[in-house]
Amino acid sequence: MKSSPQRPNLPAERPSPGRSVSASRTEMIEVVLPQDANPLGYILGGRVMHLIDIAGAIAMHRHCHSPAVTASVDHVDFRNPIRVGELIILESQVNRAFHTSAEVGVEVFSENYLNGERKHTTSAFLTFVAIDENRQPRPVPPLLVKTAEERRRYREAGERRKVRLAAGAKRRR
Ligand SMILES: CC(C)(COP(=O)(O)OP(=O)(O)OC[C@H]1O[C@@H](n2cnc3c(N)ncnc32)[C@H](O)[C@@H]1OP(=O)(O)O)[C@@H](O)C(=O)NCCC(=O)NCCS
Repeated sequence: MKSSPQRPNLPAERPSPGRSVSASRTEMIEVVLPQDANPLGYILGGRVMHLIDIAGAIAMHRHCHSPAVTASVDHVDFRNPIRVGELIILESQVNRAFHTSAEVGVEVFSENYLNGERKHTTSAFLTFVAIDENRQPRPVPPLLVKTAEERRRYREAGERRKVRLAAGAKRRR
């Protein structure tokens, strides 16, 4: 493959026509172990946030085929505890690509493998920024949305971005 004169070790940049949501979709599963839990036997919130960041980053990397950093995490609610011995399941996908950033949605579920009971415990929205070899933001491929659900997520991600950026600007004032 031809290399770029400015980036001799990397392949030449080609504009991407875009990637589907399914290209970024990721499922991560772990069993909750005692070292991840509080004295009540529930997984620690910090451990869940760590896993959310990883599941989100994998979806971002699958979409943009580039290193990326976490720019922000919207608020996270913990609706149901996940107990030691249960499975924690994280599903992530890119909801919308902007210019150098993209919003990734992560949903977290618990599953009791003895009876198959599955509960939704947490939802989170993260913004990742793709970065180049100089650690500067670089453009991400467009997201191709096909289904009604993907279009809904895409539209809502645009609304959340407005709120997020306005809140960021307010904090910096
Ligand atoms: C995220 C980071 C790359 C942004 O760099 P920057 O010089 O501020 O870049 P810009 O202002 O040009 O913004 C780049 C993109 O990030 C978005 N962005 C920046 N800060 C953001 C925030 N707090 N929330 C959401 N999006 C944000 C911008 O909207 C822009 O998106 P767009 O190109 O799609 O419109 C930089 O702040 C950084 O490196 N932060 C540290 C990241 C980190 O260490 N994360 C934890 C470990 S991975």
